[in-house]
This record gives sequence, structure tokens and C-alpha cells, in this order.
Amino acid sequence: MLARIGEFRAFHLAQLGKRARKFPWGDVLRRDVPLKVEVSTNKKSKIYHAGAAAQRIETALVETFGATISKDAALTLKLRIDDNNCQFSIDTSGEGLHKRGHKSAVGKAPMRENLAALFLRDCGFDGVEPVVDPMCGSGTFVIEAAEIALGLVPGRSRSFAFEQMASFDAAAYEALKAELTPQHIDMQGLSFFGSDRNAGAVDMATNNAERAGVAGCTRFKVQAISDLMPPEGPPGLVIVNPPYGARIGNKKLLFALYGALGKTLMERFSGWRVGIVTSEAGLAKATGLTFLPQGAPVAHGGLKIRLFKTARLR
Ligand SMILES: C[S@@+](CC[C@H](N)C(=O)[O-])C[C@H]1O[C@@H](n2cnc3c(N)ncnc32)[C@H](O)[C@@H]1O
Repeated sequence: MLARIGEFRAFHLAQLGKRARKFPWGDVLRRDVPLKVEVSTNKKSKIYHAGAAAQRIETALVETFGATISKDAALTLKLRIDDNNCQFSIDTSGEGLHKRGHKSAVGKAPMRENLAALFLRDCGFDGVEPVVDPMCGSGTFVIEAAEIALGLVPGRSRSFAFEQMASFDAAAYEALKAELTPQHIDMQGLSFFGSDRNAGAVDMATNNAERAGVAGCTRFKVQAISDLMPPEGPPGLVIVNPPYGARIGNKKLLFALYGALGKTLMERFSGWRVGIVTSEAGLAKATGLTFLPQGAPVAHGGLKIRLFKTARLR
């Protein structure tokens, strides 16, 4: 998330440098926190050389504010020059927002946590029903569902770049976090299941769930799709992100795998809803399941993926 901190007009580099020297950097930046500067400009602007513009800003920051510039800095100042208007922003997030701070291990093609949350919501996940992911990889859907059910806020275990800003109020942030932390965590009756035929993936998912504090209501086991059975209790949601062509495996085998998945679900998961996240409509179709109208495509790992969801299976 970018926070706009100010803007001014500049038509040439000398003017940019001069105005940058007068900018109230101390309102948002700390001298002791290293910073990197990133500049983008466009054809509508007289300043066309992003590298030279960055240099002017860096010099102004060092000479007038005493900042330390470093390529590896955790805090980034962004300058966007559009139609000679210089807009300054701070990247307040730092690492991508999908990183919750629990996963030390990921598989070959992990689902991003924020997308997993989005797809669960789109499937109408109510936080109470059981969830099954029969190709769970690093466990993203299962862990995310458990966190939602327990009211654990995303990002609680990580830091953000905004904590490095001069305007950061640590006490207010701690109070906000305390307010959002559930007082009693009741895992009774909650069950979130993941399985995968790859034992390494199952170990990863188990460890990731432990770190996320949801081990008490998640279960992971090594199992191929062909052995999948519904857990005891009421029906819920099967959500799965099977391998897809461009990332893993061979197309023909994939069609067979999706076919086997669909058959297992139709034969054994009566009353359950299904959400399948994949890059290809043809693969989803190969399951033989009847899908509700499709959602919007979402960019993920250089591909467009979509959620294909069903009503309750008969
Ligand atoms: C795209 S990955 C899933 C990634 C996962 N959503 C995550 O966030 O890490 C697909 C997974 O399907 C598993 N898989 C492939 N064929 C399977 C089968 N026949 N039975 C069970 N799991 C299978 C793979 O081992 C892999 O972990």
C-alpha cells in the first residue's frame, strides 16, 4: 500500500532537486532508517530520465535531511512523475501483503494467502463449516480457513514498512493489535483438513499450521485423491488448487487427474460445495462437475487463474 506524502511540479532536473531540498521529509521519514528511492516517469513529462531523477532526490535527502540511501533498505520512497507532476509516496507494506509471516516452507506452486482468503470468501465460507483441501501443498487454504474461523487477523505475526516511519505511533499500533486479538480461542467443533500425495508437502503444511497457531483445528495427511473420503460430521466446502499446465506437469495427465478428482467428489461428497482454482476452463470442465457462473480472472504467478465453484453436490 502506497501512502502519498506530497507532490509538486518540476519541469527539469535542477528544479526537481531544488524543490526536493525544501520538502518536509522529517514529517514522515527517520534519519536513522535507510531508504531506497524508486522513480518512474512517462512521456508526458519533461523529466524523462528516471535514474537521473532518483539521483537528484537521493542527493537532496542526504545533503539536506541526513538520510542514508541503501539499495537493500526496508523502506522505499517512490516518485512518480506524471505530466510534470512529481508525486511522492512511501511503500507502507514492505514485503508483499500476502506474506503472513508463518510460512517458512512453500511447495512448487503455492497459492498466495490473500488469494486463498478471497477464494474462500467467494465460495461463501462461513467460518464454521468444515473445509477439505485434497491437494493442499503447503496448506494455504486449510490454514487460511482456520485463521478466518478463529478470528486471527492476517499480518499479526509480521512487521510492516510503516513501522519504520517517523509518523508511526507504536503505542496506538499495539493497542489496535490487542483490540483485534481474540480473547478466547475456541477450536471446539472446528475442523479443517488437508491432504496431499506428497509427504514433503504434508510436513510443510503441518509445520506452517503450527506456526500460524492453528494446529489445534487442522489435520494434514499423506493421501492420493483416489483415497479421499469426507470427514465425519456435517458437509462443508472442498476447495482445491490442483496442478495446472503451465506450472506443473503434463497436460494429458492433468485431464485425467481432474477427471478423477471430479469423480471422487461426485461419488463421495454429497451435500458438499466445491471450489476449484485453476488456470484453464478445460481442466475444470474435465471434472464433470456443474459450475455456477465464473468469477473474474485473477493474476497469479504469470497466469490468470479463476475460481470454478459448484452448488451443493447432490
Ligand atoms: C498447485 S499445488 C497446490 C498448492 C497449494 N494450494 C499451496 O498453497 O501450497 C498442487 C498439489 O497437488 C498435489 N497432487 C497432485 N496430484 C495429486 C493426487 N493425485 N493426489 C493428491 N495430491 C496430488 C501436488 O503434490 C501439489 O502439492
